[in-house]
Amino acid sequence: MHWAALLAAVTGIPFVVDAGAILRFSCSQLVVERLDPLVNPGINPSPHLHQVVGGNAFNVSMNPDTHDIPSTATCTTCTPADDFSNYWTATLFFRARNGTFKQLATKGNPLGYTAANGGQTVYYLGPNSGKVTAFKPGFRMTVGDPTFRTAAQIKKYPMLTYTCLQTGSTRGGETTNFPTKPCKVGIMVSIRFPTCWDGKNLDSPSHQDHVAYPSGGKCPSTHPVTVPQVFYETIWDTTPFNDQALWPVDGSQPFVWSFGDPTGYGVHGDYVFGWKGDALQKAMDAGSKCNSDLLQNNINCPVGTTQTIQKGNQCSKKVDVNENLEGWLAELPGGMKVQ
Ligand SMILES: *[C@@H]1O[C@H](CO)[C@@H](O)[C@H](O)[C@H]1NC(C)=O
Ligand SMILES: *[C@@H]1O[C@H](CO)[C@@H](O)[C@H](O)[C@H]1NC(C)=O
Repeated sequence: MHWAALLAAVTGIPFVVDAGAILRFSCSQLVVERLDPLVNPGINPSPHLHQVVGGNAFNVSMNPDTHDIPSTATCTTCTPADDFSNYWTATLFFRARNGTFKQLATKGNPLGYTAANGGQTVYYLGPNSGKVTAFKPGFRMTVGDPTFRTAAQIKKYPMLTYTCLQTGSTRGGETTNFPTKPCKVGIMVSIRFPTCWDGKNLDSPSHQDHVAYPSGGKCPSTHPVTVPQVFYETIWDTTPFNDQALWPVDGSQPFVWSFGDPTGYGVHGDYVFGWKGDALQKAMDAGSKCNSDLLQNNINCPVGTTQTIQKGNQCSKKVDVNENLEGWLAELPGGMKVQ
C-alpha cells in the first residue's frame, strides 16, 4: 500500500501525496503517577492520576524559566531521540459491580509499535500547504475539559474521540463518549490539539487561550500562526474486562477516567514541548521526506536521529508519589468521586 493510503487508513485523515510533514512515532510509558506540572505545578500529589510519556525531566514543577527540558532530561521514551517533550492524559479504570476500581494498562499500537511498553502514539501533522512553525522552548497547552459530562459540551473540542477496536486497525465509528459495548482489542483514545497559535504566548492562564482551532481551513486573525497538529493515540487494554457479566447491571459501560468521569466527555490531554534545538522545525520543514515509515518504525527523515522502541522502553523516571495503585481499589486515587 502506498504510504499515503496507509496513513489515511491508520489515522482516518485523507492525505494527498504532497501532504505536509507527518511525523508518527511511538512513545512508551514513562510513568503513571499523580503529578501535573502544567495544571498543578508544585503540587504533589495532583488531584488525579496521569499516564505520562516522553523525556525523563518530567517533574512536579517544570517552570520554563528555570527548567530547560532538553538539558535536564537524560533520556526519552519516544523514538525521535531529540524529543524530550512530555505528553500525558488521565488514566482509565474499570469499576466493578462491587464498586471497587482496577487500573487499566496502555498497550503498544498494534499498527507498528507492539514492542512498546504501553504509552501512546504521537503525531505531528503539518498543513497540506504553507508554512508551519514549530513550538518554541517553554511552549505548553492542554485540550479538553475534565468537567465536561455532555455531548453538547464536548462540541467545543471537535477532535477528541474514542474508537472501539475490533481489530488493531479498526478506524471509523468514533464516538465522543465511551463505547457502550465491549471492544475486542481495546479502546483507542484520540486527542488532537488545535493548530493555530497567537504567536506570542508560550502558555496562558487556561493553558488553552493562546491556541485556537482553524475556521474554514484558516487560522483566525487572533491566532495567525500555523503550528503542527499534536495528536495522541492511546490504546487502553480493556480486554481483561470484556466479559459483560462483569459490567454494571443497569446496562451502562464500566470504565471511568481517573478524574471520576463515567461518560468520556471529560477527556483531555496535556503537552509540554521539549524538542532539542530546532529538531522539530527541521523535521517539519523536510515535509513529506519526514513522513514516517509505519511498518519499519523509521522516522524516515533526512534530519534528526531516532532510537529503537526497545531503547525508549528503557527510559524511566522514579515515581515521586507514594500511593498504591495496584489491585482492586476502594476508591479512585485522590478520592476522586465518580460523577
Ligand atoms: C525534580 O525536582 C526536584 C525538586 O525540585 C529535584 O530535586 C529533582 O532533581 C528533579 N528531578 C528531575 C528528574 O529533574
Ligand atoms: C470486587 O469485584 C472484583 C471483580 O469482580 C473482584 O475481583 C474483587 O475481589 C471484589 N472485591 C471485593 C472486596 O468483593
